[in-house]
Amino acid sequence: MTRRAPFIVVEGLDRSGKSTQASILCDHLTSLGLPVELFKFPDRRTAIGKMIDSYLRSESDLDDRAIHLLFSANRWELASTISSHLEKGTTIIADRYAFSGIAFSARKGLSYKWCQAPDVGLPAPDLTMFLDIEPDIAQARGGYGTERYEQEEVQRDVRQVFERIEKEMTHAGARWVKIDAGRTQKEVSQDVWVHVQSILDSVHHPVGTLWE
Ligand code: TMP
Ligand code: MG
Repeated sequence: MTRRAPFIVVEGLDRSGKSTQASILCDHLTSLGLPVELFKFPDRRTAIGKMIDSYLRSESDLDDRAIHLLFSANRWELASTISSHLEKGTTIIADRYAFSGIAFSARKGLSYKWCQAPDVGLPAPDLTMFLDIEPDIAQARGGYGTERYEQEEVQRDVRQVFERIEKEMTHAGARWVKIDAGRTQKEVSQDVWVHVQSILDSVHHPVGTLWE
């Protein structure tokens, strides 16, 4: 029987280097001959993803709760694909996940528990790496783009919500690590690799579910 593969999530603020690190990690695992798939949330290619994309570009406006539920639905539409990959032995790396969902919506004043609820039951990551960066350093790195949320003020608030998420996840026994993303790409990817290596051979149980 194939052993199930690990589910790895990379989280962080905008411009923290998440996508770069997720892709370096994906290449590294592939070079070792391990099957791996990279998912990015939001996945803007689906019908729901297109609505999210239009909202993020400020081409459309949506109620705060409505957009929150769309972000969650965008994960749910890929949840069974993620689980079946894991069960077949393909490692999954997700560039953002439900934690971004809570962080970006709770900062608008929606209750933390309300924000968490729609994602309860999703496949649970075996490892979440939060790439931590000071928002002014992120800003200085070539600036945020023009999308919604790409502003230093917003990122500061979001970072505070992530601190709460980290506390709650750690308290619940989840493997959540904070990585200083203000360093060079190489330093960060070395750290990422140390954490990934530590779980590669220790994923034996069935895929867990988030917050159940
Ligand atoms: P991206 O820059 O990684 O493509 O993400 C787009 C923006 O969407 C980013 O500012 C974070 C935000 N976001 C949410 O508000 N809720 C979510 O559930 C996710 C996945 C992202
Ligand atoms: Mg972005």
